[in-house]
Amino acid sequence: MILRIKSQFIEIFNITLKSNKRSMGSQITSKLVFQNHGPPASVVKLVDEPITPLRPDEVLVKMLAAPINPADINTIEGVYPSELKLPAVPGFEGVGKVVNVGDNIKELKPNDHVVPLKETLGTWRTYAKFPGHLLLKVPKDLGIVQAATLIINPCTAYRMLKDFANLKPGDVIIQNGANSAVGQNVIQIAKRMGLKTVNVVRDRPEIVDLKCTLKNLGAHTVLTEEEVKKTDIFKKSLPKPKLALNCVGGQNALEILKTLQEGCTMVTYGGMSRKPVIAPTSALIFKDVHVKGFWVTSWNKQMFKSKKWLQMYNDLINMMLKKELKVPSHNFIHFKGYKEALEKAVDSKGYQKKFILNFD
Ligand SMILES: NC(=O)c1ccc[n+]([C@@H]2O[C@H](COP(=O)([O-])OP(=O)(O)OC[C@H]3O[C@@H](n4cnc5c(N)ncnc54)[C@H](OP(=O)(O)O)[C@@H]3O)[C@@H](O)[C@H]2O)c1
Repeated sequence: MILRIKSQFIEIFNITLKSNKRSMGSQITSKLVFQNHGPPASVVKLVDEPITPLRPDEVLVKMLAAPINPADINTIEGVYPSELKLPAVPGFEGVGKVVNVGDNIKELKPNDHVVPLKETLGTWRTYAKFPGHLLLKVPKDLGIVQAATLIINPCTAYRMLKDFANLKPGDVIIQNGANSAVGQNVIQIAKRMGLKTVNVVRDRPEIVDLKCTLKNLGAHTVLTEEEVKKTDIFKKSLPKPKLALNCVGGQNALEILKTLQEGCTMVTYGGMSRKPVIAPTSALIFKDVHVKGFWVTSWNKQMFKSKKWLQMYNDLINMMLKKELKVPSHNFIHFKGYKEALEKAVDSKGYQKKFILNFD
């Protein structure tokens, strides 16, 4: 009797499973796609297409949120070294909810929250099928924006603070673009490491408010690009920085490089001003200042799922859950309003909050 009920149950379960998988063929995903490189608001189009059946190693994910990062803009423009083949769905990162899993996927189940781990998977779509091994399960109590913006900016900030200088509590670091998402992560992670941050930002009418916001996050000092040229804080109140982080380039990178201690490093990770990095000959010869670059995509590829990699995600997620790592202010925008968001995201005058696409 018990056996019969059990076999009936298994049969019903199998029929449900099969019909679930079959029915995916009639589900539709709406995705943003670009066929050619060019100005993002012109080349990105919205396309609907049926979702094909899941393969055994795949996971069907309903996307919840995905940011528009400078790297996404540069990828669509065709000025970013990406492995994407066109036509392509943009979106380096995001968070989604598992809808269904292929037969070989054991570690994930429906309703789990997951973060795609490879920048070429394309997150700007309502539903996506991702290879299971390229998804990271994240706690559901991690905020949607924290999860959607986990794998690029917090990781970049974390690695630059860990890998380029032997920093100890009380040491000073300097960074430009300090109001960027990476910059705000640097401020908060550095504070947790006991470091003092000197933060350079562009001047603006609301500079007093911005200084106050960054200090509330843990910034020691905030200077405008003009103020850093004339500052005497490194003569009077602070030791010279042991590390400089540059995402701007041009004159501003030169100014922060000049403040470094002998033998220390400036790491360039972005070029928001689109101007080259210039290093004074004397700093290279007489101060042995090092000029290096960092690219989180390359680090992730080399260290994927290593002990260091797992430790980093563990640390960052814990900091986020403890509210020690807050996300920068942002604007949610429905993904169908992508044209407006893309137009604003390329506006080099800036002072923009980061756009986060939502898909409901
Ligand atoms: N190498 C890597 O692995 C890696 C990883 C992540 C990010 N990045 C790069 O890091 C940079 C920041 O990314 P994000 O996502 O943190 O940026 P974000 O939050 O979108 O903010 C962009 C920042 O750039 C500043 N900015 C824009 N144009 C500028 C200019 N002409 N001069 C000075 N500052 C300017 C803005 O300053 P305002 O506040 O004054 O508007 C803003 O703070 C980008 O270049 C990005 O590509 C690199």
